[in-house]
Amino acid sequence: MSGNSHEGGPRHVAVIMDGNGRWAQQRGRPRLLGHRAGAKRVREIVEACPDLGVDYLTIFAFSTENWKRTQEEVSGLMSLFRRYIQSEAQTLLEQGTRVRFIGDRLRLDAKLRRLMDSLEAMTAHNTRCNLTIALNYGGRDEVARATKRLAHDVADGKLDPDAICDETLPRYLDTCVLPDPDLVIRTSGEARISNFLLWQSAYAEYEFVDTLWPDFDRAAFAAVLRRYGSRERRFGGVLSA
Ligand code: FPP
Repeated sequence: MSGNSHEGGPRHVAVIMDGNGRWAQQRGRPRLLGHRAGAKRVREIVEACPDLGVDYLTIFAFSTENWKRTQEEVSGLMSLFRRYIQSEAQTLLEQGTRVRFIGDRLRLDAKLRRLMDSLEAMTAHNTRCNLTIALNYGGRDEVARATKRLAHDVADGKLDPDAICDETLPRYLDTCVLPDPDLVIRTSGEARISNFLLWQSAYAEYEFVDTLWPDFDRAAFAAVLRRYGSRERRFGGVLSA
């Protein structure tokens, strides 16, 4: 774990990076160009995290619903993910960023899976910042997969059904080693959570910003974090004196 100072800022920030398509359309360019511009922002925001006191950044790169996009867009995104891992691996390693992936990997192609596994292994000893990339991720799908594993443990006699409580399921989620997000940001003006970290965001603050993801720079990120710092979270309790 890093020794960053939080000073009221969020320790774990999750981001729904929306608006790449519109950003490209506004310029009369293909959607994939927007995704490429979005990948550049990923680099900038990841780099900014340690300075801004963010220990965990979780980003929604591809949802279980995104397969419904055109084949051209899906394969373009998959090749962008492969290229991102290949081109960023060394920088992430040197930056001290530990990378993890969440989501169902089974539907991803073998080459991408190998790159994901190797980036996780290569950065496993890093402690400065934690980047989690949600790829073929859906909150309901994650809960369904977790429940299946939990049911197997019950069937195998490893888990007593009467001992199940609200702390049991999180141990089976893809995010089992991560703290819950404190802040969830969605760019591009839509106020939806789109199946992202459903269980984990129970007490998160939400920030919906109008900026399209490819325009969401470090200054915009810092401004959202400052707004969070000025709010008080109560977790269902009462205001402290
Ligand atoms: C949503 O914008 C964005 C996505 C489905 C893809 C997110 C991917 C990136 C930011 C690219 C790079 C990521 C990594 C990890 C390298 P949209 O296409 O739905 O935008 P729209 O709502 O304007 O159409």
